[in-house]
Amino acid sequence: MKPIIVSGIKPSGVLHIGNYLGMIKQSVDLQESGKYSCLYFVADYHSLTTGYKPEEKSAEVMGIITDLLAAGLDPKKSILFVQSHILEHANLAWIFNTLTSMGQLERMVEYKEKVAEGQVPNAGLFDYPVLMAADILLYKARKVPVGEDQRQHLELARDIARTFNKKFGETFPEPEGVFTKALRVMSLSDPKKKMSKTMPAGCLYLTDSPKKIAEKIGAAVTDSQKEVGYDPKNRPGISNLVNIYAEFSDDTPAAVVKKFQGASYKEFKGAAAELVSEKLREIQERKSEIEKNKKEIMRIVGEGAESVRPVAQKTLAEVKNKIGLV
Ligand code: TRP
Repeated sequence: MKPIIVSGIKPSGVLHIGNYLGMIKQSVDLQESGKYSCLYFVADYHSLTTGYKPEEKSAEVMGIITDLLAAGLDPKKSILFVQSHILEHANLAWIFNTLTSMGQLERMVEYKEKVAEGQVPNAGLFDYPVLMAADILLYKARKVPVGEDQRQHLELARDIARTFNKKFGETFPEPEGVFTKALRVMSLSDPKKKMSKTMPAGCLYLTDSPKKIAEKIGAAVTDSQKEVGYDPKNRPGISNLVNIYAEFSDDTPAAVVKKFQGASYKEFKGAAAELVSEKLREIQERKSEIEKNKKEIMRIVGEGAESVRPVAQKTLAEVKNKIGLV
């Protein structure tokens, strides 16, 4: 049997290129490698931990599935499903709650950031990483493609696996993160911060038109130097653009810097906007095709749920048995 890969993505409205480069592109690459059984799901339960409107939720879930398919996830090669369709996720999370200390969760940077941003600190937001551990361990996943920002959460999943194994006997492999080579995609308007919808001017959405892309990249904060260079610490703005270019062209930042030796910032920004537009256009075209057939989308995730459910049920039964429930 091939090693199992699991990853989840939150349905939170329109995706930006940070989401795409962080997890989706890599998930597609792993699928194409043919070396793994890939399980990808929409983390709809996770998405309930931050403010939302119930009347928008189903469109968000459908939208993200469409985005994943448009970006190249192929239901013939990967399994695509919705988290809340598999009840065992929340069930296993409950058991893991009893193996996790308040201190472990209090250290989570993402939680602290969300609260600092003004999110209501509900118990689900605090507990978010435990549900994520359950998502991964339920399928005994070996590898987890995630963005760099999920490193700490993944570490917790490994801790929980270790704690469980020590207390109740060898059950879970310790899952390894697969992080994109690229550093985080930063905001175009404030390159010291992660690209985020909270700063729309610095955020490139997968739905942006070539004109919008050219405007946003054109207005991206750089520095007063003249040469395109790569030094994320001291020159975060231009380095972020080099990074984006490198990721979309499957090249290294060094190669991109070399390619644009002698070019002005303006020329480089123009080329970057063109490259990003071209890549996004492909995704947008596929998306508008897929969107037309909602029934087919539901069929795909229905089939996905059917194929993972037996695995989830088996693991939960094993866990309940090991911890002594009758
Ligand atoms: N927390 C992840 C993110 O924000 C999404 C996620 C939920 C996830 N469950 C997961 C990723 C399990 C990998 C594995 O990106």
